[in-house]
Amino acid sequence: MLLMNPVEDQTSHFATYPSLRNRIVLITGGGSGIGASAVEHFARQGSRVAFFDRALEPSAALVEQLTPLSLHAPVFFPCDLTDISALQQAIADVTAQLGAPQVLINNAGSDDRHLFEEVTLAYWDERMAVNLRHQFFAAQAVAPAMKAAGAGSILNISSISWMIPGENVPVYNTAKAGVVGMTRSLARELGKAGVRVNCVLPGAILTDRQRRLWNTPEYEAEIFASQCLKRNLLPEEVSRLLLFLAADDSSAITNQSYIIDGGWM
Ligand SMILES: NC(=O)c1ccc[n+]([C@@H]2O[C@H](COP(=O)([O-])OP(=O)(O)OC[C@H]3O[C@@H](n4cnc5c(N)ncnc54)[C@H](O)[C@@H]3O)[C@@H](O)[C@H]2O)c1
Repeated sequence: MLLMNPVEDQTSHFATYPSLRNRIVLITGGGSGIGASAVEHFARQGSRVAFFDRALEPSAALVEQLTPLSLHAPVFFPCDLTDISALQQAIADVTAQLGAPQVLINNAGSDDRHLFEEVTLAYWDERMAVNLRHQFFAAQAVAPAMKAAGAGSILNISSISWMIPGENVPVYNTAKAGVVGMTRSLARELGKAGVRVNCVLPGAILTDRQRRLWNTPEYEAEIFASQCLKRNLLPEEVSRLLLFLAADDSSAITNQSYIIDGGWM
């Protein structure tokens, strides 16, 4: 559900972060699910949001929905993140249009199921390109301006899937474990310039895609049995953690991984 801009919505009981107002925030995979919720939440904070996605229709619809509610209308840049040259060009386009990103949320990913025995070299490469590679190159592209500014927050979305571990997603799990290692490497690389890098590991978050593809009554029962909280977790609950980690309120936090899973782990 779309929420009101806090600039107008005095009834919200969630935090407003003054440091996020006018901040340039780039979100990958912002067209649906957790990414779309993040686009909405940063727009509500008055941030200047750019987002990448390869799904044109939902992305355009999101911009249309949020524009009248936002201090700065979010800007959609169509981009297939498996094409690294296109990703680098899109980041240059964001910089030219909005300014250099001060926050990067490496969110895009896909948990398509696959059997260990059937994974081919081509499928391995494609899953890594969808779930890990673009996160590294997006960070590499935004880092110079963040380093020059002496500040920045990069948030990489992993998953608890590799820790449970989830079945029938061995390459996804490998990529998502890689996201944690990459986070710790980049936090060390960029920390000396004042740039923070953290990782967020969601559990089962009820997005439209999850509802459509995997959320059978049996799977939901399994989730509730595994979690301490016996209810579905929602994208906005992840977004609120992202807001905190992007804002200056978390200024001393870097090199960390945050699990948000209702107590599954
Ligand atoms: N929903 C969950 O339960 C859950 C749990 C753990 C981790 N995650 C992670 O959270 C992130 C968001 O997941 P979600 O559930 O919101 O997924 P989603 O499928 O609802 O949204 C992902 C978005 O990324 C876009 N995208 C995917 N590949 C892309 C590409 N190559 N180029 C451009 N855009 C691309 C899709 O079009 C989509 O809009 C992913 O990294 C996912 O692995 C989700």
